[in-house]
Amino acid sequence: MLLLVFTFLSTAVEALRVIGGDMTVVLGGTTILPCKLITTDSITQISWRKEPQTDNFLTILPATGPLFLNGHDKRFQFIGNFKDINGSLQLSNITLTDEGTYTCIFTLFPGGDVHTVMHLNLLVPPVTSLKDNRPTLGTEEVSLATCMAAGSKPPAKVQWLTGTLGEKVRPTNNVTQHANGTTTTVSTLFGVPTREINHRLVKCVVTGAAMSKEESLPFTIQIYFSPIEVTINRSSEDSFECVTEANPKAAFTWSRSEQSMPQSTVRVEGATLQFLSMTSDLNGLYQCEASNLYGRKHSYIYVHVTSEIAAKLIDIGKPMGFCGEAWTPTPGVES
Ligand SMILES: *[C@@H]1O[C@H](CO)[C@@H](O)[C@H](O)[C@H]1NC(C)=O
Ligand SMILES: *[C@@H]1O[C@H](CO)[C@@H](O)[C@H](O)[C@H]1NC(C)=O
Repeated sequence: MLLLVFTFLSTAVEALRVIGGDMTVVLGGTTILPCKLITTDSITQISWRKEPQTDNFLTILPATGPLFLNGHDKRFQFIGNFKDINGSLQLSNITLTDEGTYTCIFTLFPGGDVHTVMHLNLLVPPVTSLKDNRPTLGTEEVSLATCMAAGSKPPAKVQWLTGTLGEKVRPTNNVTQHANGTTTTVSTLFGVPTREINHRLVKCVVTGAAMSKEESLPFTIQIYFSPIEVTINRSSEDSFECVTEANPKAAFTWSRSEQSMPQSTVRVEGATLQFLSMTSDLNGLYQCEASNLYGRKHSYIYVHVTSEIAAKLIDIGKPMGFCGEAWTPTPGVES
């Protein structure tokens, strides 16, 4: 008799061990909680329990089928059947709270209960993002950009690939644990905001067990500054172009000192000022202003059209006290 009982138990345990097993699923996914028994006993009930609860949340009886005890959760579907002594469940739209230890219990006659325990592990891929911290030109170390892998389970790894920038930049990492078991990893890249590191390409690389592949977020370092110096270049016989260095790119505004622009003889297009005909009504001071979010700078040219007969265009150079651009006389420019 003793031997018989022992044989029965080992068979049951063996059978359950084969079909049980831990599951690892990605948030929102679907899994099967397998539970199958090989026995010659008859089954009166199959039931499911989830720790720490000590009550069943689902019982399956041959006559009635599955019965939910704490409200019908449609995400659990009984996919086994009594005939095959299969109590397997399919769980879909998996959430974080589904994680845990499940017990599948077969009630046998006359053998009593046998059960198997399985663990459902959840993977939550992080939500990745990269933020430009909009550093402005300076000499003190500041944060340049922040890379974030939010709500990951298990925690994600966040790294910066900074190539040849080497020690001009350095990352600092910060890890926050959430009550729901996920982790947010933030890596901030620090550096002195110089023009030298402006426009340099770096990469934030996020890896983790919950991700099917690593995620690479390229980032061009931006150091923001107001227009540095405005120069006015002569771009052709009759036109001038205003040039500056600024980030973001400067917008240019041409205006005429104390007078309105002569509409019919002057054309302004972005950075360019063009004189369409050379008449003395053009005479005067013209200002080019370069501006962006961070500031503005300007420069001037002085225009003087001489000789009514020849209508020659002559430059007058830098007016006193103005940061102007010299315009050398160009004989032979006809009106
Ligand atoms: C699972 O989620 C999808 C999309 O939100 C929904 O359409 C579907 O009804 C859900 N299924 C169950 C069984 O809850
Ligand atoms: C986990 O908690 C964090 C912080 O409250 C939240 O942002 C995140 O969306 C949660 N994740 C899930 C999968 O519910």
